[in-house]
Amino acid sequence: MSEATLTLNGQTVAFEPGQTILEVARSHGVYTIPTLCWLKDTTPTGSCRMCMVEVEGWRTLVPACATQATKGMVIKTESPRVDAARKMVLELLLASGNHNCLICEANGECELQALAYRYQVPTPAFAAPPGTPYYFEDNNSMIVRDFSKCVMCGRCVRACNERQVNLAIQIGYRGHHNKIVAKADKTYIESDCVFCGSCVQACPVGALLDKSAIGQGRPWE
Ligand code: FES
Repeated sequence: MSEATLTLNGQTVAFEPGQTILEVARSHGVYTIPTLCWLKDTTPTGSCRMCMVEVEGWRTLVPACATQATKGMVIKTESPRVDAARKMVLELLLASGNHNCLICEANGECELQALAYRYQVPTPAFAAPPGTPYYFEDNNSMIVRDFSKCVMCGRCVRACNERQVNLAIQIGYRGHHNKIVAKADKTYIESDCVFCGSCVQACPVGALLDKSAIGQGRPWE
């Protein structure tokens, strides 16, 4: 049987059946597709849309992390159209909460901040709906949850449910009421959370913080 190949940024490359576009790209040394919701060894959800790429003949851009590669695809991982879509996603995410990097614990290791810098998105053109309620939880001695910084990537949920199999948190509610909930929307301390810290490690922004590290220095210190 002949090897399955596709065209990636003008190069013919081979891939294994079942691989996603993101996996094919990375296996051929293309690490420039940005990701936010993707979390290694967990089910890709394609929810953040940061990894959008262009496939010739397809009407819309597709999420590289959640789209399987198929024989003969012609993929462009960078193009003006792709850049514009990624910028738009970043603007919407930055407008969705209080992303004030100066006083954020995650400053310097925040993936949203790094992407905003890469794509030069300084100020969101959109504003959060007035009166948007942001949940803040600080009633246990280990983890602080600041939902004004949550980008709803769902990485914490997959770290909890698929890596640790604790099943303590899920995505709850709909629309802009969407949030991460612990046991019918309780606080962590009232839920089945065992405070393993996997969710904190998986969070790409400053929405989940190790309480003992707050104010003790920047990540690079
Ligand atoms: Fe692919 Fe989020 S990283 S959609």
